Amino acid sequence: MSETSTVANRLVRIIKDELYPGREVIGLHEPTFTGNEKAYVLDAIDSTFVSSVGKYVDRFEEMVAEYTGATKAVAAMNGTAALHATLHLMGVGRDDLVITQPLTFVATANAIKYCGADPVFVDVDEETLGLSPQAVRQFLEDDCEIDDGRGVLHTASGRRVAACVPMHTFGLPLRITELVELCDQWSIPVIEDAAESLGSFVGKTHTGRFGKIGILSFNGNKTITTGGGGMIITDDDALGRRTKHITTTAKVPHTWEYVHDELGFNYRLPNLNAALGCAQMEQLDNKIAAKAKIARSYREALADTDPGSGLYQMVEARPGTRPNYWLNAIRCPDRNARDAMLTAFNEERIMARPIWELMYRLPAFSSAITTPCPIAEKLVDTVVNLPSWPVAVSAR
Ligand SMILES: Cc1ncc(COP(=O)(O)O)c(C=O)c1O
Repeated sequence: MSETSTVANRLVRIIKDELYPGREVIGLHEPTFTGNEKAYVLDAIDSTFVSSVGKYVDRFEEMVAEYTGATKAVAAMNGTAALHATLHLMGVGRDDLVITQPLTFVATANAIKYCGADPVFVDVDEETLGLSPQAVRQFLEDDCEIDDGRGVLHTASGRRVAACVPMHTFGLPLRITELVELCDQWSIPVIEDAAESLGSFVGKTHTGRFGKIGILSFNGNKTITTGGGGMIITDDDALGRRTKHITTTAKVPHTWEYVHDELGFNYRLPNLNAALGCAQMEQLDNKIAAKAKIARSYREALADTDPGSGLYQMVEARPGTRPNYWLNAIRCPDRNARDAMLTAFNEERIMARPIWELMYRLPAFSSAITTPCPIAEKLVDTVVNLPSWPVAVSAR
């Protein structure tokens, strides 16, 4: 039997017998509601405040601000809208360029396009799977110049590099301190796509708080969910207040007048969804602890593979960081082994998945400026995500 089959069989047994016994189909990430979800949602219905204002929106924002340590948290209808709003707030506009990674969910690149800008795809780091500071430095030094009036320009096209959007892949913190330091040197604002990394920290600082502004997602497949939802976090109080204004149609507060003082968005999170979010936030630490246990089970199952090669090993977070274990991932030697592994899982109705197709291979982004991305291409060929959701976790 090949090493791929041996490893796949061992993992299938652990998934079916230990982690998710009695389940016919095992999703990659499923939501669980074992706390106050029903009580809070019913309370929101009884209050008639089911739409864009209500006590649960305020409470949910406070809970996320407290958990992340952010000065301000602003709820949004989903992570994609949150990204669009933050790019707009950072002044990204028509014909601008925004540095990001090709290895991400499509929302990151879509939001850049919604602003009339285009992504520039720069390679990721093999260890963290997130945007590589070294590759960004190379792009800036080799392909860009500073224009005193307009900021950083991409030399060949003359287009402005208006922002940088790194993403903490699968909840693994990227080398964000180095990246922010580099972008500060070039005066490029960093918007952190922390959609997948609620509960992930670098040292004591939550991801999403290193750049000027960051976003979270509460989509149904995330560590906690509001059905659909997102959050914008920042430590800049004035920026936080402006974020709230822009995402709530830029309405000037007044008892009866409808005056909107700039272009705004209706990106508010309904109170009903926020009610779900409050109940889920109460369980966040317990969910992360249960997810860490799942990661331990996978790690133990892979204990006798060769640690030197890194093959058939878990993708681990860097020392000094704490991941949220959103999606566990293992490294295979090549695309054939990856596909054999995916086949073995899916035949057993375990929805193991590969990484997303790289952004520059998608029709919407095929003409984007792209630097060489050998690491991202290797990772797409070799990484497999395993089911990573805790079956039943109660409130703390
Ligand atoms: C990296 C990344 N960015 C953005 C999003 C968008 O979030 P949403 O689905 O809430 O719009 C997601 C996931 O859903 C994501 O994984």
